[in-house]
Amino acid sequence: MTDPLSESFGTTTVSPQERRALIRRVFVEVAPRYDLMNDLMSFGIHRLWKRRFAALAAAKPGETVVDLAGGTGDVARLMAQSGAAVLVVDPSTAMMLAGRRPDDRVLFVGGEGEHLPFADNSIDCLTVSFGIRNVTHLGRALTEICRVLKPGGRFLCLEFSRAHPVIHPFYRAWSSTVIPVLGAGVAGSPSAYRYLIESIRRFPDQQAFAGLIGEAGLEGVRWIDLSFGIAAIHIATKPGG
Ligand SMILES: C[S@@+](CC[C@H](N)C(=O)[O-])C[C@H]1O[C@@H](n2cnc3c(N)ncnc32)[C@H](O)[C@@H]1O
Repeated sequence: MTDPLSESFGTTTVSPQERRALIRRVFVEVAPRYDLMNDLMSFGIHRLWKRRFAALAAAKPGETVVDLAGGTGDVARLMAQSGAAVLVVDPSTAMMLAGRRPDDRVLFVGGEGEHLPFADNSIDCLTVSFGIRNVTHLGRALTEICRVLKPGGRFLCLEFSRAHPVIHPFYRAWSSTVIPVLGAGVAGSPSAYRYLIESIRRFPDQQAFAGLIGEAGLEGVRWIDLSFGIAAIHIATKPGG
């Protein structure tokens, strides 16, 4: 039997609306096992990356921090330990419900990157961890992020990126063989995980993504490679602080 999810992401012919709907479906499918799959796929390394990311965000008491595409809320919870008010914004109710804890200090809000439900110049720090490659209109989302940040506000983005050429063949082999098998066996959705791999391959490299952040109006763009560039943290600020 053919799988529309797998087939559609294997082509470049899907419209933005179709892609958006398919991505919603991916995260409904993976939500119950999302955190477990991240641990298995990365041998737990994603937790170290996220801890470093949250430390670099340097949230402070009294600040308002938005974790866009925050999913199950793991990064938001790390940042909330600072005493800052932290909100997860994500369009997937399934992902947010999968991560909800009764004692959560984090607020979960439905929304997507292209239309942020916040006033201009209202947010001290906006983070995105492994979510920016899922937005349908990357330029629009980056412009929205710039709009809602206060002057001097911080933007940090953790995302898969271009691995160093020496490790690239190993990483590629791992991602195209082991991850779909784990996706099938653990999450019950090989096509959803094929989409995740495909979206990583299509995402701009470190330099190109830094250029897009600058074009959206943020300044001082720099990045830090993690694990030989398998992932990278981009950091920028809104001018005028
Ligand atoms: C790979 S998960 C990342 C979750 C979490 N931030 C992490 O680091 O594990 C990607 C998230 O992006 C969300 N997403 C998809 N489309 C989005 C959009 N247009 N705007 C914001 N988030 C979106 C999904 O619902 C999903 O929760």
